[in-house]
Amino acid sequence: MANNLKSIGVFDSGVGGLSIYGELTKLMPNEHFIYLADSANAPYGERSPEEIKTLVFRNTQFLIDQGAKLVVVACNTATTMAIQELRQSFHVPFIGIEPAIKPAALNSSTKKVGVLATKGTLNSPLFKETSATYGKSVETITVKGKGLVQLIESGKTNSEEMTELLKEYLAPMIQAKVDHIVLGCTHYPFLKEQIQTLTPRTVKIIDSGKPVAKQTQRILAKYHLGANETANEPHAFYVNGNTAVCESFLRQMGISNYTIRSL
Ligand code: DGL
Repeated sequence: MANNLKSIGVFDSGVGGLSIYGELTKLMPNEHFIYLADSANAPYGERSPEEIKTLVFRNTQFLIDQGAKLVVVACNTATTMAIQELRQSFHVPFIGIEPAIKPAALNSSTKKVGVLATKGTLNSPLFKETSATYGKSVETITVKGKGLVQLIESGKTNSEEMTELLKEYLAPMIQAKVDHIVLGCTHYPFLKEQIQTLTPRTVKIIDSGKPVAKQTQRILAKYHLGANETANEPHAFYVNGNTAVCESFLRQMGISNYTIRSL
């Protein structure tokens, strides 16, 4: 099969990457997508860099075996811990995702920016490097979102427990008078409305979905990999855990032309 007829592969530790998939498919409706949710191994955020590397190599190999021409690592934790090794080891282009500190820092008036991300992302050398480069002009209030991914993965996105955890994690940011909150985990855009309700109206909540989709489009064009005809095949979803949560997110996103398989 010609490379430009092949698929865009996307993976995450679970349903979080669907927030990126949603932006990708909006921007590139002609492309065919294969999505892998490694739910059996979620959350990645509490795992060691070695464990993450093993998992992301396995995920990438799986997507390439299914016909991926490019891989979107739709997970901040996996990107910040392993994107360099992935690029060195596989022949396909990779798109990664990192917390959007740069636009938040550039647009902050209070010079205080909140970052909500996993322990793995916040402890990674790549995150430290990015915040040292772009966060110099602002004070960053970083908070680990422990437990948020587990609640989303177990279908408790809109639960009492979720509200309680969010209140706790947002409190130090509100107290510090941040005017931007960066969502540094691809699961968190699904909490955007709740976060907005729990923070002053002036606080801007930023995620990286749209810039990642644009970058994917640029890289496809650069390597002449863009689909030159519309893919009519249903998008293929693979989940190695419970498929019900993934299906419920796809339904809410209005996605209907897909197949889903349990691994
Ligand atoms: N959605 C992922 C991220 O962007 C992983 C979260 C997790 O599994 O801890 O970091």
